[in-house]
Amino acid sequence: DTQTAYRSALFHTLDNPAHQPAGEAHQYFADGLLVVENGTITHCGDAESLLKELPPHIKVVELPNSLITPGFIDTHIHYPQTEMIASYGEQLLDWLENYTFPTEKQFSDPEHAQRVASLFLDELLKNGTTTALVFGTVHPESVDAFFNEAQKRQLRMIVGKVMMDRNAPDYLTDSAQSSYDESKQLIEKWHNKDRLAYAVTPRFAPTSTPEQLDVAAKLLKLAPDLYLHTHLAENKNECEWVAELFPESRSYLDVYDQHQLLTERSVFAHGIYLNDEDCCRLHQTGSSVAFCPTSNLFLGSGLFNVKKLESHKVNIGMGTDVGGGTSFSMLQTLQEAYKVTQLQQQRIDPIQSFYLATLGGARSLRLSDKIGTLLPKSEADFVVLDLESTPLIKARMANANSISEQLFILMMLGDDRSIKATYSGGRCVHQR
Ligand code: GUN
Ligand code: FE
Repeated sequence: DTQTAYRSALFHTLDNPAHQPAGEAHQYFADGLLVVENGTITHCGDAESLLKELPPHIKVVELPNSLITPGFIDTHIHYPQTEMIASYGEQLLDWLENYTFPTEKQFSDPEHAQRVASLFLDELLKNGTTTALVFGTVHPESVDAFFNEAQKRQLRMIVGKVMMDRNAPDYLTDSAQSSYDESKQLIEKWHNKDRLAYAVTPRFAPTSTPEQLDVAAKLLKLAPDLYLHTHLAENKNECEWVAELFPESRSYLDVYDQHQLLTERSVFAHGIYLNDEDCCRLHQTGSSVAFCPTSNLFLGSGLFNVKKLESHKVNIGMGTDVGGGTSFSMLQTLQEAYKVTQLQQQRIDPIQSFYLATLGGARSLRLSDKIGTLLPKSEADFVVLDLESTPLIKARMANANSISEQLFILMMLGDDRSIKATYSGGRCVHQR
């Protein structure tokens, strides 16, 4: 494989701007060069100076009116819910019963699962998302289908079989024992194969018995780098229900804590209703929270408090949470995130927003040595953003005076049309 250089504006974050306000937390090159060899980034910097030191005949791809950023990382999404996105009229618990469970039933059929997994991955790539932490369904077939499709495309993806042994229809429940056996088999088959990894995935506290939560902890011991992926404190009625089901627990988070499920590789979706002690435990254990603004607004769940979690130094990533979320687009998701902070008299600036969608996600997944930045040695997972994808964006960009303003315009006005191309492992996996 030869070296390829992409000449474009480049932007990436190097640290959390919220914790590093003074230091150099990001890099921007107005005329940048990103050099890729064998799927890995070898250089990232100013084009003119890099072209002087590189071999003279290196292949240079010119990308005018573009901005290259690291590929987006979606830290919470459900692939089986692709075809039920935008289902009208319910909040969480009724939405699960009336829409979600009947939809997920279909994933006992491997062909159905394969078709939806393929559609889902196409949609992610079209939106510039190169890595995601993904829910399957209770059926092991759903996870096989997803891993197969992700492997075909050589993507870095994480998924797991849902564990659910109570409070769900019979057709969707497993048992503590069968969830152990089936998850273990999937781990042995797929975990760390190519760029794939497995997440132990109890759906949420109400649908697992204490025995099954213990099984989840036991599964995590099968390999040191397995993920734990679940939902946490998303909806008020859900929180009340958890308090009834687990009267001995101090809080919703404490249910997971008591079952040894808070680890450096644990990702909790939503986390809207957390107290200070919960935030401390998340920080102490190195756990992460996925901020899912489009879902939290669509399902009327509540307003996620970014500043509170930031002040406790909890890792945060962005999640679309499709199909509770209403868009696969990380740009649209950042737009809603901004509005959620505005409603609480807070503000996440554009640089921090892009941090959350890239390096913040990579850190949440403990993958920041591989993805999330454009630093040399990183896997070449990146997006080419079009700064002029619509007449309105082009007109507005003409009045932008900084990279920060350009990023904000992309967040507020951009969508899949802003994704000119997506690269994974140095290969173009989407082009508009
Ligand atoms: N809580 C338990 N299951 C789900 C789900 O599928 N989506 C969302 N948003 N929350 C959940
Ligand atoms: Fe979810």
